[in-house]
Amino acid sequence: MRDLVLGIEAVLPDGNVWHGLRALRKDNTGYDLKQLFIGAEGTLGIVTAAVLKLMPQPRSVCTAFLAFDTTEIALGFFMELRKCIGQDVTAYELISQPALDLVLNHLPDSRAPLSVSAEWYVLVEMASGRSQEELESDFYGAVQVGLENGSVRDAAVAATQAHAADFWRIREEISDAQTRAGGSVRCDISVPLSKMPEFIAQASAGVLALEPHTRMVVYGHVGDGNVHFNPLRPACETAARYLARASRPITHIVDEIAMAMNGSISAEHGVGAAKRDELLSVKSRVELEMAWRIKRAFDPGNLFNPGKFLPRLDAMKEAAP
Ligand code: LAC
Ligand code: ZN
Repeated sequence: MRDLVLGIEAVLPDGNVWHGLRALRKDNTGYDLKQLFIGAEGTLGIVTAAVLKLMPQPRSVCTAFLAFDTTEIALGFFMELRKCIGQDVTAYELISQPALDLVLNHLPDSRAPLSVSAEWYVLVEMASGRSQEELESDFYGAVQVGLENGSVRDAAVAATQAHAADFWRIREEISDAQTRAGGSVRCDISVPLSKMPEFIAQASAGVLALEPHTRMVVYGHVGDGNVHFNPLRPACETAARYLARASRPITHIVDEIAMAMNGSISAEHGVGAAKRDELLSVKSRVELEMAWRIKRAFDPGNLFNPGKFLPRLDAMKEAAP
C-alpha cells in the first residue's frame, strides 16, 4: 500500500480537510505527508479518499504449486525465478505442512494440490506483459532444472483459471482455518529476505524448546520478506490453556529473533492495542519520541484512536535500544 498510494484526502483532528489527491509519481516539495497517514491506524486523521497507481492488465498469468524439503531451498528457487522471470514474479507464498493440513482438515471439498508430502510448499504466481507461451516456457525451464537437480520435489501448474483459484483458496483459507482450530499465537514478522530461512529455523527451535508439541503453522508472503509465524496449540490441549501459558513467551522469543535480524514485529497487520507495548522493547526512544511529536502536532487533544500503536514512553526501560 505504501508503494501504491499517490495521493490522500484526510479529515484532521482539528476539523480541517487536507485535499492531497495528487496523482504524481514524482513530487519533491518537502515532507511526504501522505505516508504519515498510511499505517498510522487512524491516529492522525481519517482518510476519506486516495489516488492509487494503476498497472496495465497482464497479458499472461501463470500459477503453480511447488514442494520443497527446506525453506533454504524454497528461497533459493525464488532467487532463481527472479533471475529468469524478474519482476513478473508477483507472489511467492510459503506454506508449511501443518498449515496445509489445517486447511485440508477444515475446508470442505479441498484436496492436496500435489501428491507428494513435503515439509514446505510454495504458491507462486507470475503475471507478465509477454505472451502466455513465453512466460510458461521460462517457468517450465526453471522448474525442469529444479526437478533435475533435486531442489524442487514436485510441481503442479494450474491449467485453468479455476485450477489457479483452487490453489489460491488453499493459501487464503489458512488464517480462517487457524481461527477455527483455535489456539494460535500470531506473529506477523518481516526480516531481510536473505535471513528468512534462518529466522524460521531459529524461531521454530525457540518455540519448540518452550512448547515441544506446538504445530508450526508458518505461511505468508516470503517473496516480500514477510511471514506469518503462528505456532498452534498441541492437538491434545485446549486453546485457552495453551494461550494463557504460551502466548507471551512465544511472542517474546519470536519477536526477539526477528529484531536481532533487523526485522519488524508487524509487517502488515499493524500494532493496535495488542502489540502496542511490545514497541517499547523493539523501537528506540528517539524513534518513539518522533512519533509522539507527530501525534501531538496533529492531534494535541488525543482525540483520534487513542491508545492505539503509540506506547506510553514513561513505561520505557532505559535499557531499550
Ligand atoms: C494472510 C493474512 C492473515 O496472509 O495476512 O492470510
Ligand atoms: Zn498476510
